[in-house]
Amino acid sequence: MQEVLGVGLRTRWKIWGVFERTTGGVSCSIQALSSERNRAGSLTCSFQAFRDWKEQEVIFEGFERMDEGLDSEGNTLPTREVMWETYTGDEKSREEWYTKGVNYWSAVEASVDGVLGGYGSISGRDVTESNKFLTDCLKTLKPDSHESSMVALDCGAGVGRVTKNLLMHHFNEVDLVEPVQQLIEVAQQDLHLDFDSLGTRMRKVNFFNCPLQEYVPPAERYDVIWIQWCIGHLTDADVIEFFNRAKLGLKRGGFIVLKENVAKSGFVLDKEDFSVTRSDQYFRDLFQQGGLHVYQHRKQTGFPRELFEVHMYCLTTEVKKTTKLRKAKKVNRPGIIK
Ligand SMILES: C[S@@+](CC[C@H](N)C(=O)[O-])C[C@H]1O[C@@H](n2cnc3c(N)ncnc32)[C@H](O)[C@@H]1O
Repeated sequence: MQEVLGVGLRTRWKIWGVFERTTGGVSCSIQALSSERNRAGSLTCSFQAFRDWKEQEVIFEGFERMDEGLDSEGNTLPTREVMWETYTGDEKSREEWYTKGVNYWSAVEASVDGVLGGYGSISGRDVTESNKFLTDCLKTLKPDSHESSMVALDCGAGVGRVTKNLLMHHFNEVDLVEPVQQLIEVAQQDLHLDFDSLGTRMRKVNFFNCPLQEYVPPAERYDVIWIQWCIGHLTDADVIEFFNRAKLGLKRGGFIVLKENVAKSGFVLDKEDFSVTRSDQYFRDLFQQGGLHVYQHRKQTGFPRELFEVHMYCLTTEVKKTTKLRKAKKVNRPGIIK
């Protein structure tokens, strides 16, 4: 339940603290506005930190840096609100934003190397860690599910790299959503039905040539919704709306995996492909607004240093206890020499 327990006000900055009673105590989300510097933003901190003005000042300094963004030409963008208003403030500019994004991907080579911006070589490492993350999440969140009845959604699927190398190994049926015709055509050619040695159909892939902001998941269809390297194309409002539709599209116990580039702070606007790389805090704000909870969070390892960090989030519609996978107990017994 959300309840306003107190309101803070400072001289240069106006700060509103909205306090929420949570199971772990009280958390506080701060909304701040500086009339002098024309800045606005929000962050979440502990109740104690908010009460301690000195400490709060430190947090607030951090906030200033956290909310500020950059574009790919090195220009500073004061807040995410200012950025979205500038680029997608009315219906015409919003449409242009999405068209430019799709045009960018329509011009790349329709291959794994093309959709990974020339970094096709990282695909194997990416899939290995995704597979480990997905397996761990399925084990604890869907322990009784049978592969034969499992369905997944691959969002912004490109040439079907994730479906082919990851999802088809876990799910009986995969729906693939991709707005760029040339890319989805390659996926269609590549992901024809798979047959086992007896000639029985094993996997089915369905194709939807459509952008994510327009896709409506059928009610309670999916065990897992996989969103990788495409959510940056969606505006904040469309991300939240998609989360709301996705929640209805999940089966009981189903979950969403978001795997994305993450900025160190604030956000980075790419004016070439018209996407935004968000910070971890930014993503968590969107999850909260979309009514999703972070069940598991892990960082990808082993990618080239020049790339953004890549994080994997497992998101659930209800708060779930994170169960750490137990290591097998060491038994104090002599080994058998054969
Ligand atoms: C970096 S590629 C990633 C492709 C795939 N997810 C993968 O990991 O191999 C980005 C993909 O996002 C798609 N995309 C662009 N705008 C989109 C939108 N509005 N909705 C869904 N996908 C979008 C592009 O067409 C492209 O296939």
